[in-house]
Amino acid sequence: MTTSNQTRVAVLVGSLRADSLNRRIAEHLSANAPEGVTIDIVEGLDQIPFYNEELDGETVPASAVALRVAVAAADRLLVVTPEYNGTMPAVLNNAIDWLSRPYGAGAIVGKPFAAVGATPTPYGGKWSHEHARHSATIAGATVVEGIVASESALNGDLLADEAAVERLVGALTALVSHETVAAA
Ligand SMILES: Cc1cc2nc3c(=O)[nH]c(=O)nc-3n(C[C@H](O)[C@H](O)[C@H](O)COP(=O)(O)O)c2cc1C
Repeated sequence: MTTSNQTRVAVLVGSLRADSLNRRIAEHLSANAPEGVTIDIVEGLDQIPFYNEELDGETVPASAVALRVAVAAADRLLVVTPEYNGTMPAVLNNAIDWLSRPYGAGAIVGKPFAAVGATPTPYGGKWSHEHARHSATIAGATVVEGIVASESALNGDLLADEAAVERLVGALTALVSHETVAAA
């Protein structure tokens, strides 16, 4: 939640690779976050079991609880992800499934949401980002319209590409700037 003037953004990275470009993008955003913005890259997504309603009862796996707590504590949710086979990686889809429950009261519900990232193709993972937005919408998130940054990493070091970095930081800024409507 917002405390003082800080806006907390939880970030889910859709790649588990140690040398992941998308993780590096998330870390760059964290290091270059606008004034008043705190980035929390949520770790341990690979420790969360595949969603199974039988696991989601009176007791819940600690890894899934940690995810829910981290996202519930945030003011915004940002996904930074590559694309696998024309959609989002399974680890990210699984995280969204866990965040979507309890039905109607999951940590993702009402959370302003955006999906960005990069792949080494001309399309930059745009289907992954579209599908993440679609899934988050169904899960109850408030997907912020107009935030698109699907960056092609075909031409070398993306983080040295000023225009691409500007779009990614701009996406974060737009997500943070999104006005939330207070519940009546
Ligand atoms: C199983 C698999 C499927 C992939 N499918 C796609 C795809 O559909 N579209 C795409 O742009 N890249 C695809 N890629 C390439 C990834 O985007 C690329 O490996 C990317 O660098 C991964 O991001 P990372 O550096 O953050 O790990 C795929 C890679 C893997 C391993």
